[in-house]
Amino acid sequence: MGLDFLTSKFIINEHDFNTPIIVTGAGGCIGSWVLSILTKSKIPCVGFDLSESKRRLNLILGDDAENVPWEKNDVANYPELLNLVKKYNPSAIIHLAGLQVPFCAADPALGARVNVEGTINVFEVCREIGLRRIVYASSVASLGMPPGGEWKETFYGIYKQANEHTAYVYNEDLQIPSIGIRPNIVYGLTRDQGVSSKNTIAIQSAVLDEEYDIPYKGKYSWLYAGEAASAFIYSVMKEFTKAYVFNLNGQCETIENGLAILKSLKPEAKVTCSGQNFPFPPDLSDEPLRKLIGNYPTYSVEEGISDTYNSFKQLKELGRCPEINKVN
Ligand SMILES: NC(=O)c1ccc[n+]([C@@H]2O[C@H](COP(=O)([O-])OP(=O)(O)OC[C@H]3O[C@@H](n4cnc5c(N)ncnc54)[C@H](O)[C@@H]3O)[C@@H](O)[C@H]2O)c1
Repeated sequence: MGLDFLTSKFIINEHDFNTPIIVTGAGGCIGSWVLSILTKSKIPCVGFDLSESKRRLNLILGDDAENVPWEKNDVANYPELLNLVKKYNPSAIIHLAGLQVPFCAADPALGARVNVEGTINVFEVCREIGLRRIVYASSVASLGMPPGGEWKETFYGIYKQANEHTAYVYNEDLQIPSIGIRPNIVYGLTRDQGVSSKNTIAIQSAVLDEEYDIPYKGKYSWLYAGEAASAFIYSVMKEFTKAYVFNLNGQCETIENGLAILKSLKPEAKVTCSGQNFPFPPDLSDEPLRKLIGNYPTYSVEEGISDTYNSFKQLKELGRCPEINKVN
């Protein structure tokens, strides 16, 4: 059984996709939401991922996840990627495959291979087959570059900034346009890893009656996963002619107020927060992106926390709630 209330507000009724949209990083948090919304909207799609596991997709779609086409693929392997993309003659590519901050820090060379070379491979494939509807995930972490500014420098941020410059040159020299989206802090069901997954872990902990302390305080970006996925989908609804880059922030709200909303749903929850502010800006504007791609659905913090809480609760009742990731 799937959790239909999660996707119902994001269904797309009109589109011109006759061949599949390829979603790389399909097994990840945002990828699972993108594929779930596309599947529920009856838009043809196929997931590409290094992993064969549909476990996150299964949390949202239930047994329907089995019917979603899937290819095991390493974006860092160009010949394999090209062959698989040609097989589908796609309408668009939503490129989400990547390694997050802790994984790039643990193995910077692998991080560069996947995040930098993998993204070049996606652009190269698009050039080879003449595909001009591409959106890729950058990150607010790219604002940490160049070094010495206000926000935290990370290997991950370096690679994401390299993606943005790569996209610029692909358009300038080779006429391959794209949209780069810099998500801020994505939360919701399936957000289970990465430095910014802690507000979701707090909601999951409340449902599972576990104590949890979010290691940040103060103003925070709350970007609901369904809203983030919608922004990626709307970005390939038509063809553009430039290499754009946009911030994607969602709502700005303090972690303290987020926890108060959570405690209004479960007063006995043992969730707290402590430490410093998160080292990236919490209040970037989504208006420039919305102006270009159209007004994709917005989710308030109340709606997002409530849906996330209810999704974990239903999964718990069904005996399908995932374990809390206490490592990354
Ligand atoms: N979640 C956020 O808050 C956030 C914020 C900013 C940017 N982003 C970016 O958005 C994208 C998606 O994020 P997410 O939260 O869904 O990440 P995630 O870590 O949940 O999923 C990433 C997916 O990429 C796959 N992958 C890893 N290496 C691969 C390879 N070599 N080839 C193919 N697939 C590979 C993984 O198996 C995984 O399924 C990433 O590029 C991430 O950097 C996410």
